[in-house]
Amino acid sequence: MRLRRLVHAGVLAVVAVGSLGTVAASAHDATPAKPQEQTLRSLAARHGLYFGTAVDPAAYAADATYKTMVDTQFSTVTAENAMKWESLEPTRGTYNWGPADALIDNAVRNRQLVRGHVLVWHSQVPGWLSAGINDGSIDGPQLRALLKQHITAVVTHFKGRIWQWDVVNEAVSDPWETPSAIHLGGSAGSFKQKWADLLGPDYLAEAFRAARAADPKALLFYNDYNIEAFGDGGAGDKTQFVYDMVKRLRAGGVPIDGVGSQGHLATQYGNYDVFQVADALRRFTDLGLAVALTEVDARSLTQNADDQTLPANSADVAARDQAAAYNYHVLLQACLMNRHCLSFTVWGFTDRYSWIPGWFKNPPEGLGCLWDASYNPKKSLRTVQGDLVAAGPPLVQPRIPQAPRQLPRR
Ligand code: XIL
Repeated sequence: MRLRRLVHAGVLAVVAVGSLGTVAASAHDATPAKPQEQTLRSLAARHGLYFGTAVDPAAYAADATYKTMVDTQFSTVTAENAMKWESLEPTRGTYNWGPADALIDNAVRNRQLVRGHVLVWHSQVPGWLSAGINDGSIDGPQLRALLKQHITAVVTHFKGRIWQWDVVNEAVSDPWETPSAIHLGGSAGSFKQKWADLLGPDYLAEAFRAARAADPKALLFYNDYNIEAFGDGGAGDKTQFVYDMVKRLRAGGVPIDGVGSQGHLATQYGNYDVFQVADALRRFTDLGLAVALTEVDARSLTQNADDQTLPANSADVAARDQAAAYNYHVLLQACLMNRHCLSFTVWGFTDRYSWIPGWFKNPPEGLGCLWDASYNPKKSLRTVQGDLVAAGPPLVQPRIPQAPRQLPRR
């Protein structure tokens, strides 16, 4: 059994990641003396799993420690913002590819795979587009045409360089929005709802078909938050809604290959257990889809916006730190248990540059990453490393690659 695992992992690592690290190469056993000094990418490669991070090009350019960690710790990267519509086409008709191209060039140099994020999303669209939607000068048919054009232009530009595309992101409402029954869109009157109304229900299928037509090899994902586990299966169960939606797409021959579960968790809410998350992933993969954890972080309530720099020995910080570690543990173990869970990506790896304090301000939240703001390892990091080291056959097996689903032949 052990031999087979090493052979599997070795093949995957040579083909795709390149470095198996010293885990499998050790003369004595698969457990090295200090696994916590190994990179996440090498620990994950034992399982054929890609370990990723979102990347902020400004930090990458300005902070040598950040750059070194991006380059060495991870086997897949996602542009935190650089591939969003507002970044790529700030002026109508003029694409700015530079920062995204540079990010991919770095990834290639580091033998990393790239998750493309994101093609269709109501948020972070260019000003000219949101203005046109809001003043009515861009109507439904025009928006659909613009979207198709955008998908084709972007996927064609990056063709062959993207492993997984988030084709559609966050299209579905939350139970606290109005109406509370889950639906395509958001709260009544919101831009998210307006976007869904203009596009109509068929736009997801169209988006996936347009993406596939432009790149036959990329894996095409639907990506969302709050779909880590099923609820009661009723009208307010977002995971159930997304499940039914992707099941319909699959049954209709739409080229969708995977579901991305973002994994933005918070310690002040109730936690899932490992098997609840594993069950959700299994139900998605039973449809023939791959899954990925795409934007993992585990934030906590903080007393003020400066809490990111509280000393590590503060009792409060320690408790939150451990609760956050548990959230990482649940998501990673569930992913490891499913051979179709291809990658585990964190949404930034250091509290120094996390989006959380800038986004969740009232009440203030933070402290969601694996390393603290001074790059000290946190419990979350040690937990993730421990999980990667301790897992193995028979219940954790190497990943099974996903074949991109093609358009039906005409
Ligand atoms: C966030 C970025 O991290 C921030 O820098 C930006 O200001 C807002 O967007 N879900 C997603 C990501 O799909 O694109 C979001 O990223 C976080 C939530």
